Amino acid sequence: MDGIKVLSTGYYAPENILDNFDLEKMVETSDDWIVSRTGIKKRHISKGEDCTEMAYQAALQAIEKIDKNKIGIIICATMTPDYFTPSTACLLQERLGLNDHEVMCFDLSAACSGFVYALTVAQALLKNTKDKYALVVGSEELSKIIDFTDRNTCVLFGDGAGAVVVSQGDGLFASYCNSAGNIGALKAPAINNKEDNHYLTMAGQEVFKFAVKVIPESINAILEKTGLEFDDIAYVVCHQANYRIIKNVYKKMKAEPEKFYMNLQEYGNTSAASIPLALGEMNAKGMLKSGDKIICVGFGGGLTWGATLIEWS
Ligand code: ACO
Repeated sequence: MDGIKVLSTGYYAPENILDNFDLEKMVETSDDWIVSRTGIKKRHISKGEDCTEMAYQAALQAIEKIDKNKIGIIICATMTPDYFTPSTACLLQERLGLNDHEVMCFDLSAACSGFVYALTVAQALLKNTKDKYALVVGSEELSKIIDFTDRNTCVLFGDGAGAVVVSQGDGLFASYCNSAGNIGALKAPAINNKEDNHYLTMAGQEVFKFAVKVIPESINAILEKTGLEFDDIAYVVCHQANYRIIKNVYKKMKAEPEKFYMNLQEYGNTSAASIPLALGEMNAKGMLKSGDKIICVGFGGGLTWGATLIEWS
C-alpha cells in the first residue's frame, strides 16, 4: 500500500512575540513596509526554547492520543538544530520516552522544503515498515541565525515547530521533490554562533522570482502524477514566506485565494516548521475533513523545492 494516513498533528510557537512596531525600534523599517511587502505582522521568537524544545512541544501534542509503541521512525526537518549530532530526532526520541523499542531517528536538511522532503521520505520508509508510525517534525529556531541589525532579513523570520504522525493507509499520496544545488541564494553555515559571518543571508528578489516559478510547477507536477484537477484540491499549504508570493501564485493559476492557507501574518517565515505548523493550526480549527486533498508546497535554500499531496483521513 503506497498511501498514508495522517493520524494526528501538533504545533508550537514561543509565547514571546516580536511585532513590526518592536522592529521599528531596532532597525530602519516600518510596519507599513513590512506588511505591504510581506504580509507579516508579528513573529514568535524563542526566549530560551531551543529547536529541540519546540520540536518536543509540537510532537508531544501530536503523539498524545496515539499508540506511542508503534512509532518506528522520527524525522526532524530543520536547518537550525541544536547539535550536528545527536540529531534533533534522537533527542526527541529520548525526551518523548520512545527509546524502549526500535525507532529510526534522523534530521533532514532541505531548508524551507524540509517538511515536504521529510514526508516523502517517511512515506517511502513506511512502505517497508509494516504497522509502524512515522513522527515527522519541522522545527526551527531561526532567531539564532538572524542578524537583528539587518533589516533585509530580521523582519522576515520567526521560530516555531509543527509535527504530524502518519502511518500506511488508504489516503492518496504523491510527491514531487526537486533541487538545484548550483544556485547559492542562501548561506547559513553555522549554528549556535552569533558571529557576523554566521548569520543567514538571502538574495530576496531572486528567491521571490524562484518561488513564483516553482510553486505552480510543483502543484502542476502533483496534478499530473495523480490525474487530479485543481478543483479536486481542498487546500494548498505553501511555505509561509511572503503573501505576495502566494498571491502571485493563485493569480497565475486563476485559483480561489481561500484555497491557499496563510498564517504568515502571525508567525513570519518559520522555514521547515511553516507547513506542519499550518497543518496543525488548520486541524485545530476544524478546517480539515475526511477525504480533503491537500497539496503542501515547499521552496527554499539549496535551492530545494517540491510538493506532496496528502488526503485527510
Ligand atoms: N524595511 C524597509 N525597507 C527595507 C527593508 C525593511 N525591512 N528591507 C529592505 N528594504 C529596502 C531595500 O533596502 C530597498 O531599498 P532601495 O530601493 O533603496 O535599495 C527596498 O526596500 C526594496 O528592496 P527589495 O529587496 O527590492 O524589496 P522586495 O520588494 O523584493 O521585498 C523581500 C524584499 C520581502 C525579501 C522579498 O524579496 C521576498 O519576500 N523574497 C522572498 C524571500 C523568501 O521567499 N524566502 C523564503 C525562502 S528562504 C528561507 O525561508 C530560509
